[in-house]
Parts: sequence; C-alpha cells; structure tokens
Amino acid sequence: MSEDLTIIQGTKAEQYESIFSQIEAIVQGEPDFIANLSNTAAALKTQFNWFWIGWYLVKKEELVVGPFQGPVACSRIKKGKGVCGTCWQQRKTIVVPDVEAFPGHIACSSLSRSEIVVPMLLHDEVIGVLDVDSELYNHFDITDQHYLEKIVNMLLVNQPDLLMPMFPISE
Ligand code: SME
Repeated sequence: MSEDLTIIQGTKAEQYESIFSQIEAIVQGEPDFIANLSNTAAALKTQFNWFWIGWYLVKKEELVVGPFQGPVACSRIKKGKGVCGTCWQQRKTIVVPDVEAFPGHIACSSLSRSEIVVPMLLHDEVIGVLDVDSELYNHFDITDQHYLEKIVNMLLVNQPDLLMPMFPISE
C-alpha cells in the first residue's frame, strides 16, 4: 500500500534501488496497466520529488498524457515533436540537460529546466514514454537512465494484459 512506502536518503542509486523493489511489490499481481503506471508515478514522485513525472501513451498518431504527478501538462504530442515525440521517433532514451537548448522542446511549464524521456518498447513498438522534468539544470544522468529503463522494463514484463490481442491502451 502507498501508506507503507519507505522513503530513504542516500545516493541516487540507493534511492532507486529502494523504490524499485517497492514499485515491483506494488505492481506484481495487479493486472491493470493504468493502475500500475499511476502508482509508479506516485512512488517515484514521493521518493524523488521531481517537478513532473508521468506517462504519455501512444494513441493513433499521437502521444496522449496518462497518469502523472505534478502540474497540469500538455494533453497531446505528435510523433517527432518535443522531447517526448522525439523519443517516440528515435525509440531510445533522451537526456536533456537544458531544455531550452533542445530544438522543438515543448514547454508545458516555464519552470522546467532539464528532462529525461524513456520509451516503453513492447515487441519493438513504442507504446508510450515515461517523462520526468526537473526545475534544475543537468538533473538527470546515466544513473537515472539506467534505473528508469529498468522500471519501464519491469512494468512491461509484469503486465500480462499487454500480451492480449485487445490492446488495452489504444483507442
Ligand atoms: N517537455 C515535453 C512535453 C511534456 S511535459 O514536459 C510534461 C516535450 O518536450 O516533449
């Protein structure tokens, strides 16, 4: 239960290790993908207190905002647009130390300074992205990339729903 989350001090890697196993315990046995994305966003926000963390899900030709924690965000992003749409197009994690230096960055908030976006790849197709924003420049590095990719992979592996022919998150 979320009330039972243990929030720790320590290095970034130690914090990720701690929250990873707690997220894994929360999502294991829960078949609903949106429930798991929601609790993952909440657990990560509680541990790291980032400015914004959430999911954009591929629906037809666009990314549509999914479960998130933080201020109101852009609802839809087209493929190739902004950091999220570029991540979708390039199918790889993008770390942006200074959002103003990223061509085409979409500023959902003027307070955001740096960002990391991780693709959710299922059977070689991007089905969504995990987006994290910080109010600090240079906030994200290879450690964030490693653990956020690990969290995304764990969520997909634990999600039997996604293997069903009726793909639950498409419109
Ligand atoms: N900055 C993102 C848009 C989403 S918000 O940051 C929540 C982008 O450039 O794709």
